[in-house]
Amino acid sequence: MGGGSELSANEAKLIDAARDAATRAYAPYSDYAVGAALLFDDGTVIAGSNVENASYGLSLCAETTAVAKALNEGRRGGLVAVAVTGPADKGDGAPITPCGRCRQVLSELAQLGGTDPAILCVGQNEVRRVRLSDLLPHAFGPASLD
Ligand code: THU
Repeated sequence: MGGGSELSANEAKLIDAARDAATRAYAPYSDYAVGAALLFDDGTVIAGSNVENASYGLSLCAETTAVAKALNEGRRGGLVAVAVTGPADKGDGAPITPCGRCRQVLSELAQLGGTDPAILCVGQNEVRRVRLSDLLPHAFGPASLD
């Protein structure tokens, strides 16, 4: 993997969960299936995939779907890692990174529990591991409203 160290078993499992979620993407317009898997501090994994809409701009990214599922299942923090996978046959094979909106959506869940999750951005031949705070420095969040 790129970024300095080998994948742990937990990270490999998280990437598998994201890939599995991507098989259930509803992406008939872009034909670009994305999977995201969230790992919580109690070992739970909650995954999601992108959900598109005929009104294109209403489409939901995989990360946003996963965060919505997690919040809806009562999660309020405890987010320790996230894996994101894209299709193997699109783009230049570089690791996929969460879009700007998804960074903000992930940040909300992370900030609720005071964590800075590792984001595993999966590419064809490498996995780039970055901190959410590096993808979204100086984030706005729940505490900003206090
Ligand atoms: N997409 C995601 O699900 N996550 C990202 O971080 C980037 C983009 C989706 C949105 C759309 O359904 C498709 O990929 C093409 O942009």
